[in-house]
Amino acid sequence: MSDRASNTEPAAASDSGTRSGHRIAVVGGDGIGPEVIAQGLRVIEAAGVSLETTDYDLGGKRYLGDGTVLPDAVLDEWRGFDAIYLGAVGTPDVPSGIIERGLLLKMRFALDLYINQRPFKTGSGGGEVGHDLAVHDFVVIRENTEGSYAGEGGFLRKGTAHEIATQGSVNTRRGVERCIRYAFELARSRRNHVTLVHKTNVLTFSGDLWQRTFDQVAAEYPDVNTAYNHVDAACIYFVQEPQRYDVIVTDNLFGDILTDLGGAVSGGIGLAASANLNPDRTGPSMFEPVHGSAPDIAGQDKANPIAAILSGAMMLRFLGEAEAADRIERACDACAHLTGSTTEIADAVMAKL
Ligand code: IPM
Ligand code: MN
Repeated sequence: MSDRASNTEPAAASDSGTRSGHRIAVVGGDGIGPEVIAQGLRVIEAAGVSLETTDYDLGGKRYLGDGTVLPDAVLDEWRGFDAIYLGAVGTPDVPSGIIERGLLLKMRFALDLYINQRPFKTGSGGGEVGHDLAVHDFVVIRENTEGSYAGEGGFLRKGTAHEIATQGSVNTRRGVERCIRYAFELARSRRNHVTLVHKTNVLTFSGDLWQRTFDQVAAEYPDVNTAYNHVDAACIYFVQEPQRYDVIVTDNLFGDILTDLGGAVSGGIGLAASANLNPDRTGPSMFEPVHGSAPDIAGQDKANPIAAILSGAMMLRFLGEAEAADRIERACDACAHLTGSTTEIADAVMAKL
C-alpha cells in the first residue's frame, strides 16, 4: 500500500500552476478487479481529467497474506480523499463474509454511503430478452446501510439439533426516509416517476414503514408520479416491461438481487455500473462495478471493462466533471455491443471519446 504522506506531489501548496487532480483512493482488489480498474483509469485520463491516485492493496488476497481486511487507520485516511474507485473484492479461498462484511460493508457503513445508485439501459447493447429495441433507461436506488445487511441476529444452541439462527432486518425511519427522498430528488432531474419496490404483503413491519414513509415523502413531490410493485412482480417487469420504470427505490437486499437482474436484462453484468454515495458529502463516495471478482477469468484480459469504466464516469459526474462523464458514457454506449479483450474494449471506448 502506498502512503499518502509520502506522495511527492504537494497538495494545495503547489505553485507550479498545474491543477491538482481529484484525490482518489484506488482499490483494484481481487480477480478481474485490478484489470478493469486499470482500464477505467486509462479512459478517465484520456477524457482529460487528471486524478491523483493512491493504491490500496486490500481484498481477499491481502487478507490471505497478512490477515488485513480494512484497518480503521485506512478508513480514516480515506476520509481525506475525494472518492474511492474499487474493482472487486473477494476470493474463493476466503470464508464467506469476511471480506464482504469486513471490507465492503464496513466501508459502506462507516462512510455512510447510504445510496447505492445503479443505472440500467435496455435495448442498447446486446443480450436483452424479449423486449423491443428502443433504448430505455432506468435506475435503481438501493438503500445501502440497513435492512438485512445491518448484521442484526445470531445463533442460539449453535451446533445442536435445536439450533436457531435469526437474521433481522433493520429499518430506521431516518434511513428509509433519506433514501426515498434521494429517489424523489433524482426523479425530478429525470422523468418524474418513482416506483417503490418491497414486499409489503408479507413484510408487514418493515414494508409498512417503507410504504408510509414513501407516501409521506411523495406528498411533498406532487410533480412526481409514483407506483408500487412487490419485488416478485418487479422481477417479471424487469424482464418483460422495463419501460414502466424511471427511478426505483428499494431496500438493501431487494436492491442487491434486483440489480443483478437489471444487469442481466440490459446487456449483461459486464456493463452494470454503480455508485455508493454519501450525498451529504461528509466523506468520500465509492464507485464500483456491480459485478464481482470473477476469479475464473482473472488475469486473462477477458473481463468486460465497461462496467468499471461507467462506474468511473459516475465518479467523475459526482466530482463535478459532467462533460467528461458525458463523453465517457456516450463512448461506452457506442461500445456496449462489442466483444473482445479487456484492453481491446477499453481501446475502442477511448477511440470514441
Ligand atoms: C454488491 C455485492 C455485495 C452486496 C457483496 C459482495 C457483499 O453483491 O455490491 O451487489 O451484496 O452488496
Ligand atoms: Mn450484488
